[in-house]
Formats: sequence, C-alpha cells, structure tokens
Amino acid sequence: MSDQPIDSGKRTWIIASSCVGVVGAGFAAAPFVGSFQPSERARAAGAAVEVDISALKSGEKMTVEWRGKPVWIVKRTPEQLAALPKVDALLADPKSARKADELTPPYARNEDRSIKPEILVVVGICSHLGCSPSDKFTPGAQASLPDDWAGGFLCPCHGSTFDMAGRVYKNKPAPDNLEVPPHMYLSDTRLIIGEDKKA
Ligand code: FES
Repeated sequence: MSDQPIDSGKRTWIIASSCVGVVGAGFAAAPFVGSFQPSERARAAGAAVEVDISALKSGEKMTVEWRGKPVWIVKRTPEQLAALPKVDALLADPKSARKADELTPPYARNEDRSIKPEILVVVGICSHLGCSPSDKFTPGAQASLPDDWAGGFLCPCHGSTFDMAGRVYKNKPAPDNLEVPPHMYLSDTRLIIGEDKKA
C-alpha cells in the first residue's frame, strides 16, 4: 500500500458529486421536482428511474440518481468479469450473503451480482460512512492500492476497496458490499431502477 494520503475532500456523496461520470436521466429530471406540490414531490423523489444504456460502452460507467443516491451502471469487460472469482478469498462477503434482503436482490445473488453478467448496477455509496468511492478500474499497482489490484473501486475517505461487483475487501472499514438496488430490464438497452417487477 502506498503512503499517499487519502483525499479527505470527498467526504460525502453530495460533496463528491464531481466524481460522478455521465449524468443520467435522473439528474435531468431533478429540477422539475422542485416545482411540484409536496405530495407530487415526495412521489417523484421515490419514483423509479428509467435509464437508456444503449450508449454505454464496454469498460464504461454511467451514473443516475435514484432516491437522492448515485446509482452506477457499469458495463464490465470480459477481463473484469474473469477477475471476479479470482478475488473471492480476499473479500469479506464474496457470496453476498450478509444483509442479503437489504443489499442484494435474489436475481443478483451470483458471482457477478447482476442480472446480465456484463452490466453491474450498484448504489455508489460506501457502507462505512457514506462517501462515494472512486473508479479504480485499471488493474495493477497504483497509489493507495495493493500491487495485485484487480480493478474495482476505492473509497477516498478511509480506504475501503470494492471489486468490480461492488463486493468489499476484507479488513476494511466498510462492513458490507455496495447495495444492488431493485432494477429490471425493459428491453436490451432500457433499465428501470427502483422497480423489479411489473405492477
Ligand atoms: S466512508 Fe468509505 S471507507 Fe469510510
């Protein structure tokens, strides 16, 4: 591990919003919420968010807002998927068994933590104190990460690390994996976040 200080400027999701990559439909819709009546506003704040992922390329991440939280959608490469089982022994909860009802819906209780292997959908908030982890997709030695880093996410606040499925590494401040929110596919390229079954 490097001695490089962790960036303490990125304390919360709100402050760390500059870390967010591509802004999705949820952000675009947010200003309209302010003009609603209170009950409409409450409904909109909890509403499911529809996302077009057709432009998302392999190895890229986009972020949308759902219930005030950043939701990451990552299109993982074949190499990133192949690396997942190799780090199981280093993870605190490789099978996503902890708080499963809260953190991992039944359809994501698999090695990839996803419906489609290549598409990861997780809430980008660290399970320690709520910072938003940074993308560290490139494998190998680099600042604040081990020399055999397999690619994933690094929380800048206290150094918790997560793999490319949002699973937390052992012996880190963060106790749990990143949350997989309820979601489902409306088509090959359209996802809905916040809902996982048809009404
Ligand atoms: S908030 Fe992520 S490690 Fe503390």
